[in-house]
Amino acid sequence: MKTTLSAIKADTGSVGGHNRPSNAMLAKATELADAAVKKGLLSDCKVTFTGDDICFLMAHTRGMDNPDIHTFAWESFKETTAIAKSQGLYGAGQDLLKDAFSGNVRGMGPGSAEMEFEERQAEPFVLFAADKCGPGVFNYPLLSCYADPYHNAGLLLAPDMHAGFTYTVMDVNYTEADKVIKVKVPEEYYDLCTLLRDPNHYVVESVTHNASGLQGCAVSTSRLHNIAGKYVGKDDPVAIVRTQKQFPSTGEYLSPWALAHFTLGDNRGSHHVAVMPVKQNSIISYFDGPTIVSAAGYCVHEGKFTEAVDLFDQPFWDLIRTKASEKTLSIRAQGFFNPAMAGMDELEYTGVMENLKRIETKFEVRSVK
Ligand code: F6R
Ligand code: MG
Ligand code: MG
Repeated sequence: MKTTLSAIKADTGSVGGHNRPSNAMLAKATELADAAVKKGLLSDCKVTFTGDDICFLMAHTRGMDNPDIHTFAWESFKETTAIAKSQGLYGAGQDLLKDAFSGNVRGMGPGSAEMEFEERQAEPFVLFAADKCGPGVFNYPLLSCYADPYHNAGLLLAPDMHAGFTYTVMDVNYTEADKVIKVKVPEEYYDLCTLLRDPNHYVVESVTHNASGLQGCAVSTSRLHNIAGKYVGKDDPVAIVRTQKQFPSTGEYLSPWALAHFTLGDNRGSHHVAVMPVKQNSIISYFDGPTIVSAAGYCVHEGKFTEAVDLFDQPFWDLIRTKASEKTLSIRAQGFFNPAMAGMDELEYTGVMENLKRIETKFEVRSVK
């Protein structure tokens, strides 16, 4: 029997501004998750939050894109929205972008990452959940942990990984349908770098192990402003990665996050800041940020989860959090000057465009004598 992991995440309202869901919302989400397990829809479910987003991590046997699973998540987010409204919370229902739900949350606002597989004898995996950024935040760490021996020593030391991995990359600027490309490393490494260097355009969707064809990772790739036609918040993505043996070890997946790389997100989805690895259930604070990512390690066995190990709750990451704060403060000192604030094509609010339209009419073209 195959196990499916589905992580579905959405912002349905917050205490403060866009800071965290309320305890009442989380209690409702947990109650609904427990009921779905009792009913047999799910074999297990964990409810967590990262910044202002609630995430359902579900195990079941119904496969990916299953209407019953997606309906459960959608209906649950409607219920947490109702609580947010009743409490007068900010941004209630922010990520539920459409009224007519047709059985799949993709293209509707929530982010979803799903993977179906035969469980290995031991099946360790990590759920990464980020807030105040787009799905391209995973480009750098996923390139590094699957394709770069600086982070994945197993590429040199473990014969199982020698044949490398194949990435499926999505062009998230294409709005008509899913536009994807498969890129195999190490053979096409430079092509992969060429794409992933632009994380607001090309985004890793999944990665498979070349020698076995097993899937090692799934990322939520939707772009909310493509769906809504206007800014409604960044995508705040999730990624599930299977670890150990033919895949990078848990520590190799974590290694690239020590860079605290710069990403686009943070305040008004329009600023470059350094990603801060945080503990489970962390809030949003400074400058509506900084961009945060949490990492929960589990094993899944016959569809049941172990307790989580909070992978960024370890003294090593205190130093990285300080480094991320320093990097963020350093670029924030530049205020609205590019590249601290995003370039025109990635600005998430329309104010600059409107100002420029007005100012443009006052320009004069000097005639050449
Ligand atoms: C970023 C984010 C916040 C808001 C900002 C203004 O993803 O959610 O930085 O963009 O707080 O929010 P509104 O426009 O709702 O007043
Ligand atoms: Mg929000
Ligand atoms: Mg969010």
